[in-house]
Amino acid sequence: MDRPNKEPPLLAEYDLMADLYNLEYGHEYDVPFWLSLADRERGPVVEWGAGTGRVSVPLARRGFNVTAVELSQKMLERGKKKNQSVEWVPGDMCDVKLDRLFGLSVCAFNSFLCLLDLEDALDFLRNAREHLAPGGMLGVEVSVFSPEELADPLGMANVRHDFTRPLDNGGTLDRFSATRYDTATQIMDMRLFYELFDPSGEMKSRRAHELRIRLTTRDELELMLRATGFVVESVYGGFDGEPFTPESDHLIVLARNPA
Ligand SMILES: C[S@@+](CC[C@H](N)C(=O)[O-])C[C@H]1O[C@@H](n2cnc3c(N)ncnc32)[C@H](O)[C@@H]1O
Repeated sequence: MDRPNKEPPLLAEYDLMADLYNLEYGHEYDVPFWLSLADRERGPVVEWGAGTGRVSVPLARRGFNVTAVELSQKMLERGKKKNQSVEWVPGDMCDVKLDRLFGLSVCAFNSFLCLLDLEDALDFLRNAREHLAPGGMLGVEVSVFSPEELADPLGMANVRHDFTRPLDNGGTLDRFSATRYDTATQIMDMRLFYELFDPSGEMKSRRAHELRIRLTTRDELELMLRATGFVVESVYGGFDGEPFTPESDHLIVLARNPA
């Protein structure tokens, strides 16, 4: 859909955070899920908002033909350094045009939440469907936040220590965050504070970044998928295929482009 008044996407933040991304998000707990889905479905595979290839690279190593679309040039450059058999495409997943159809389409680890209004979310889903072969599958995975994480204590931002991550060089990365959730817009504004320590415990750097996401719910996501022509096939609350419940930290929806 042509949207002349569309705001330019917030790409700067991930550009600024690209050097921290691999230190911050080394997790692999979701990778077996995407690999087995790819084994079950047909390729080729496209990942939307692929970051530095945390999911795309293992898919390519498994032998799949993988295209990774990413808005941030810096994230994409880091991905390219990791693996060159992935086809890296700079672009906005809401409107980028790739010249082929895919059997599996992946939108993992909150890339969908980077779309800050309904129009962008719908544009993305339409675009993803246009790039799926008949019968092809789209998988979307987003984090689910608890009521405590969304509540502002006494009108203040919600401040927490998120983690201390051990690094390969023997140092550590600490992250603190101050978040505010706007129930009217479903926008969560996050201010993330990073402290990098060397192996001796000396602080090497301290930085802050702003990040904005728009949360979604199971029903909203299902409805958006239906509105853009998908048939929802499965909904999970975790990467072992467990049901979606009030305790779930993840929402995974698999939807098919009808044959
Ligand atoms: C939380 S990261 C997830 C990266 C990757 N999917 C993973 O699992 O590690 C979100 C990524 O989506 C990218 N992104 C945000 N909006 C985008 C858009 N409109 N088109 C393409 N990529 C986008 C960001 O630059 C960032 O790299």
